[in-house]
Amino acid sequence: MKTKHLISAGDFETDDLTAIFDIAARIKEKPLAHSSMFSGKAMGLIFEKPSTRTWVSFEVGFSTMGGHAIYLGPSDIKLGVREELRDVARVLGRYLDVIVMRTFSHKRILDFARYFGKPVVNGLSDLEHPCQVIGDFFTMRKLFGGFSGKRVAFVGDGNNVLNSLLLVAARLGIRFAFASPKRFMPNQQILERARNIASKTGGKIIMTNQPEKAVKGADIVYTDVWFSMGEEVTAEKRAAFQGFQVNRVLLKQAAQNVRVMHCLPAHRGEEITNEVVEGKESIVFEQAENRLHVQKAILIYLMGMTNKLAS
Ligand code: CP
Ligand code: NVA
Repeated sequence: MKTKHLISAGDFETDDLTAIFDIAARIKEKPLAHSSMFSGKAMGLIFEKPSTRTWVSFEVGFSTMGGHAIYLGPSDIKLGVREELRDVARVLGRYLDVIVMRTFSHKRILDFARYFGKPVVNGLSDLEHPCQVIGDFFTMRKLFGGFSGKRVAFVGDGNNVLNSLLLVAARLGIRFAFASPKRFMPNQQILERARNIASKTGGKIIMTNQPEKAVKGADIVYTDVWFSMGEEVTAEKRAAFQGFQVNRVLLKQAAQNVRVMHCLPAHRGEEITNEVVEGKESIVFEQAENRLHVQKAILIYLMGMTNKLAS
């Protein structure tokens, strides 16, 4: 294990990701054989934003493996308001074995990790969403049996989900094309880091402002909301995204057996049509389910418990 935390999707190298996928597959196949792995362990969930999938899948995953999970919402500990973050982190480090954090500022998670002393998992920040994306590549690996020759495309906002997709796609050596409007491109440093990683893994990052180009021949078309949690909805941004909707017309450019992915929640009629979410191409609910299995694997891996897996 090379990392203690999962804060950026880039924290995991290729062999870490492969190990996580393998653990997740074993647990998905035999969940009951692992039902007491986290016995005597406690996990905190500090969430400053709403959540359905991340909260419930982490809490259910940890409890059904014998651990105790405690949710700490925005009005509970009032992180940084009632008490300084570094004090909360040092206190919680004495009660908990691992923490999942969902914050606005990415730096807040990095700061917390400096003082907590145990594994910290990013459950979404304004910069990244690593658990989502690792789960999504697990879903793709299951679907294709591997990534060789597969084309993955993203159409939409250059925000947290795309940032993390870039890093994991690069690590896995995948051909990854994305289309975002000029003013809504992904984080420049992450893009450069992903390109640098891809140059070593045989991956390819293709950047465009034209959705049809990104989607051409794609086996996967992925999208995310235009307005993320906590973001102001503006007419200017909506206008910039005209032509960036994932719909049946756009999907005609993709490979014949294209599958459509979305991290959810979806805003039907904006970044994706109802027809596509409900259509035969959609694997959005498989994605959501796999969050559960993959996050169990991430926790096992970060807590150094892989030797305790059932055979
Ligand atoms: N995809 C995802 O992270 O969903 P939630 O915001 O519901 O956790
Ligand atoms: N970009 C979205 C992802 C939600 C899972 C957001 O941050 O709201």
